[in-house]
Amino acid sequence: MAKYRIAWMPGDGVGNDVMEAARIVLDAMKFDAEYIPADIGWDFWCHEGDPLPERTIKILKETDCALFGAITSKPRDEAAEELDPGLRDKGLVYFSPIVRLRQLFNLHTNMRPCKAYPGNPLNYRDDIDLVVFRENTEGMYGGVEWFPLPESVFEALSIHPKMGKWKEKGLENIALSTRIMSKQGCESICRQAFEFAKTHKRRNVTIVDKPNVLRETGGLIMRAAREVAKDYPDIPLWETNIDAQCMWMIKNPQDYDVFIAENMFGDIISDLCAGLVGGLGFACAANIGDEYAVFEPTHGSAPKYNGMYKVNPMAMLLTVKMMFDWLGETDMAKRLEGAVAKVIAEHKVGTYDVGLSNTTLEVAEEVVRKL
Ligand code: IPM
Ligand code: MG
Repeated sequence: MAKYRIAWMPGDGVGNDVMEAARIVLDAMKFDAEYIPADIGWDFWCHEGDPLPERTIKILKETDCALFGAITSKPRDEAAEELDPGLRDKGLVYFSPIVRLRQLFNLHTNMRPCKAYPGNPLNYRDDIDLVVFRENTEGMYGGVEWFPLPESVFEALSIHPKMGKWKEKGLENIALSTRIMSKQGCESICRQAFEFAKTHKRRNVTIVDKPNVLRETGGLIMRAAREVAKDYPDIPLWETNIDAQCMWMIKNPQDYDVFIAENMFGDIISDLCAGLVGGLGFACAANIGDEYAVFEPTHGSAPKYNGMYKVNPMAMLLTVKMMFDWLGETDMAKRLEGAVAKVIAEHKVGTYDVGLSNTTLEVAEEVVRKL
């Protein structure tokens, strides 16, 4: 029997290409695992009305962790139009399967390292090495939303004096997406970030939100960060506003080590950080819970490159490295990261985004040669 059981979810578009690249490397490293294919993605929405079928959830429950390629997500109305005719008018509503997975398995922490590997011509600076800790189940992406606004919801919200003016617009003209955050959720993401900073001897932790306007939710996460920070007296906590932080990321990104952010702000700032170290082709990520984890690169499914083996597999390979770390296979993680770093430094084999012309799989094979 293999040591690990890994759910294998290529998902949509280039997810397939980069997962194939991952497999080349995993097999070359003789990683002792059984891979169990699991259905997820756009096709299953169109033909079954569910992008995350029950059978997939069952597979995830029977595995140690999951590796995930990429997902196509579309807004509600567009999604409804692409449903098979027989499935329309059944009240099916599209909800991103990766967001659902994060909630279903309580994968509360989305860890997104952004490191400038030497020799990458796309580096904004060569001395950036930071990690975003994005709260992954609450906040703006919690999924509590309405359009139009139900009367009962309006009534309930009307205990707030600022609610009155919305009635005049007509409830049928009002959309509401909530940002609900818990003290537990805030404390947990702050704890993960500080623990990481301590273990990896990082210089500082920055909590980024917008408490001057989002006073209640922003205030909650800021207070949680301050509370948790007391247990780590050697690590300074910096508190910043998301808008200003975006500007500082362009001015002095090298000063930051660890970020804590709410779900949506973390989504945004992690793409910004990725852009500073080569773009989404280099951005790896892990959705981590107490017992389970789903490893997926930050990038999307890039439908226009589907099946062309054009996209950069480094994000996926660094995501595999994160999986090794989480499983406690530290030596494998180091070997893989070392090989990735060598290929980047040599800059002889690479995909179009770094100015070279190799395929996704050729890059993976070059990584294997450097292991
Ligand atoms: C990400 C993506 C997802 C998100 C989308 C595809 C739902 O942007 O993982 O960052 O917003 O979380
Ligand atoms: Mg994103």
